[in-house]
Amino acid sequence: MPAERDMKSDLDIRYNDFDADAFISLWNAVWDGAPAKEQVQLALEHSIFRVGVYDGDRIVAMARMIGDLGLCYYIKDVIVHPDYQGRGLGNLLMTHLLRFIGEHGVQGTEIAVELCAMPDKMPFYAKHGFAANEAQRMRRMLRAGTYKPRSEEHI
Ligand SMILES: CC(C)(COP(=O)(O)OP(=O)(O)OC[C@H]1O[C@@H](n2cnc3c(N)ncnc32)[C@H](O)[C@@H]1OP(=O)(O)O)[C@@H](O)C(=O)NCCC(=O)NCCS
Repeated sequence: MPAERDMKSDLDIRYNDFDADAFISLWNAVWDGAPAKEQVQLALEHSIFRVGVYDGDRIVAMARMIGDLGLCYYIKDVIVHPDYQGRGLGNLLMTHLLRFIGEHGVQGTEIAVELCAMPDKMPFYAKHGFAANEAQRMRRMLRAGTYKPRSEEHI
């Protein structure tokens, strides 16, 4: 898809464009502990869609989608730089992500779109049709290179 000009805000919207350095700079603007650059490079390479918003050369908002284009669409890393929050860029990112699914999903099928949200961000996502269900997020951290199975019997 070609880049577009967002006439409302005079910012540029670019698809599948932002790199690991841009990702990490925006991450650091809102959260601590950015992931390693090599992890980010792989993550971006394997994302199915990325949308970035630029003020000149500076990235000011981003989001990406991971998945398999068929059954799984998962929204990740929705970030608007604090200087640009509250101007509609979060809505803009969500609109582009959901439009991508509408265009690329198997036409006529129901597609479950998922994401993980902190409680204070749930009202933002609810505006785009998301609702919590009974499933709970489960997570563990695994240091690559150190995994030990729970038991030899399980191998
Ligand atoms: C969450 C975030 C992406 C919203 O971006 P934003 O550009 O400020 O949002 P917008 O200006 O487009 O506002 C979107 C709508 O959601 C509402 N909204 C935004 N943040 C909200 C919040 N934390 N709680 C409730 N409503 C919120 C706005 O009022 C607006 O409502 P409207 O469409 O009815 O006018 C932004 O605050 C952000 O990047 N935060 C830090 C990173 C983060 O936490 N990302 C989400 C990970 S779960």
